[in-house]
Amino acid sequence: MIALDRAVWPANATLSETGTLSIAGISAPELAAEFGTPAFVLDEDDFRARARMFRDAFESAFAEIGSAAEVYYAGKSFLCTAVARWVIEEGLRLDTCSGGELAVAARAGIDGPRLGLHGNNKSDAEIARAIEMGVGRIVLDSLAEVERVADAGAAAGRRVPVMVRVTTGVHAGGHEYISTAHEDQKFGLSIADGSAMTTLRAVLARPELELLGVHTHIGSQIQDAAAFEVSARKLLALRAQLYAATGTLLPELDLGGGFGIAYTAQDSPLDVGALARALADVVEQVSGELGLAVPRISIEPGRSIAGPSTVTLYSVGVVKPVTVGEGDVKVRTYVSVDGGMSDNIRPALYGAEYTARLANRSSAKVKIRSRVVGKHCESGDIVIPDIDLPADVVPGDLLAVPATGAYGRSMASNYNLVARPPVIAVKKGVARVIVRRETEDDLLSTDVG
Ligand code: LLP
Repeated sequence: MIALDRAVWPANATLSETGTLSIAGISAPELAAEFGTPAFVLDEDDFRARARMFRDAFESAFAEIGSAAEVYYAGKSFLCTAVARWVIEEGLRLDTCSGGELAVAARAGIDGPRLGLHGNNKSDAEIARAIEMGVGRIVLDSLAEVERVADAGAAAGRRVPVMVRVTTGVHAGGHEYISTAHEDQKFGLSIADGSAMTTLRAVLARPELELLGVHTHIGSQIQDAAAFEVSARKLLALRAQLYAATGTLLPELDLGGGFGIAYTAQDSPLDVGALARALADVVEQVSGELGLAVPRISIEPGRSIAGPSTVTLYSVGVVKPVTVGEGDVKVRTYVSVDGGMSDNIRPALYGAEYTARLANRSSAKVKIRSRVVGKHCESGDIVIPDIDLPADVVPGDLLAVPATGAYGRSMASNYNLVARPPVIAVKKGVARVIVRRETEDDLLSTDVG
């Protein structure tokens, strides 16, 4: 066996002496032969282990300070009924943000109290459905929503558990579009301008609502634990302010998701155990200083559970040397794969970086400057702009791109009327389809002529 970078590849990925990549005991050529390419290959035990790691780390760190923690898996990163069940089996809860995600949870048979619902612009139907399912919490994102959710609760004859999403001014994460708690954006209610407090008071004025606490989500792909500590301090201060003003002590704070992972060897993923302990220390210390009981904590990791579990397997098609004459690069080899921006929009949208390797064989050939591109009708359809690949890559080779489990399949599109790839879960030598490949009939199924 040859060593793979453990930070980037799934836990059960291995590389044979002859360069064949396997996931959980099944080789890339076998997977490609049975399921076709492109395909998302998901290491189920890796996914489950990361879910457990978050739960164990936060539960034990907060138990030590006499409190408790809950982990909600953020379904937006990747959701299907199998994944919803795994998450619940591992003792987590499920964070949803649309009627579609609630429908998947319902189809998976998840109990309402184990669900949360987010959204900056929830429809009446989404609110009604969440209340009907008895979700554990709806996270309110505007003052207007207080009345809407309270009225919907009254109509259904149910008291609705809610949180209020606030913005703390903390701005963190990889890209401006995925940083969400600074002030000039659509999510949450500002602590600074007082709208968070106004909304909390409005909730307290409606007996149909049970105020669980405040929520914040400061961004995504955050590799610096300090950002979470700062945001925890802000929520604790807001909690103290509400207590002083109204006598209501919020039982829970939710710190959202955003925990960074390694896409390439250059990234340094957060150490989840250390993060949980650091946050528990802050919560204990600040609550002590304020003279208040410690709150429960919840978090909503998506990427850090789903992302590293999955590898996209592509087949190589056209290989084209292109004369570029840029600095020291005279020729760049364009390696086209059978997917691209329809299964991974992140490079085009965020400039996200990935790595790749041959998955069906090794090569002793010198490595040359290459660019991995997709099959779509756009020159920006690039998977990896600059990577050294063996000079003898040929059509039919398999190329594997790791860390594609989060926001890959979930943001996939049918651009150019390309069918979206399947998700194949592999576990201890057994592969099974958990999301099947789309067909031409699927593509035509909404086309009513
Ligand atoms: N909680 C809330 C309220 C969120 O809005 C999000 C992500 C999460 C949790 C989960 O964050 P995570 O742990 O996965 O970073 N499409 C972008 C990411 C957008 C994230 C949106 N909200 C990307 O591909 O990087």
